[in-house]
Amino acid sequence: MALERTLCIIKPDAVEKNTAGAVLAHLEEAGFKIVALRRTHLPKNVAEGFYAIHKARPFFGELVTFMTRSPVVVAVLEKEDAVAAYRATMGATDPAKAEAGTLRKKFGANVGENAVHGSDSLDNAKGEIAYFFPANEVAPTAG
Ligand code: CMP
Repeated sequence: MALERTLCIIKPDAVEKNTAGAVLAHLEEAGFKIVALRRTHLPKNVAEGFYAIHKARPFFGELVTFMTRSPVVVAVLEKEDAVAAYRATMGATDPAKAEAGTLRKKFGANVGENAVHGSDSLDNAKGEIAYFFPANEVAPTAG
């Protein structure tokens, strides 16, 4: 196991419901350190760029409309094996299929409005963190 960092986005549905703090508390209780944090309203071009890999998918337009409709909270999470650990903590993409106690089961509504995003690999985590946070906004690793 290695100490890793991953990107978390608390999506508009969760922020609108005033559950961003509950999501962050859940993550801290699960052992993640929040090493960078910002609330921001994504411009269309930023959401399109972030999800560029999904550009050809039929739900791309809906995804961008959703992600830009109101503010999100973006965070960098640090933990041993953070990428896999955070994916397990989020649960399946579709909240209906997510395990009990996961973030998407607790806070998500459906496959589009599923409360949180997480990086799917360490390589993508590095790119996604850099997409949102300049290096000087991310706390250095303790010790
Ligand atoms: P996320 O982890 O943010 O990465 C891509 C997102 O696309 C995913 O979460 C879902 O919210 C969204 N998505 C995936 N499949 C669908 C779908 N069939 N309809 C709408 N949105 C989807």
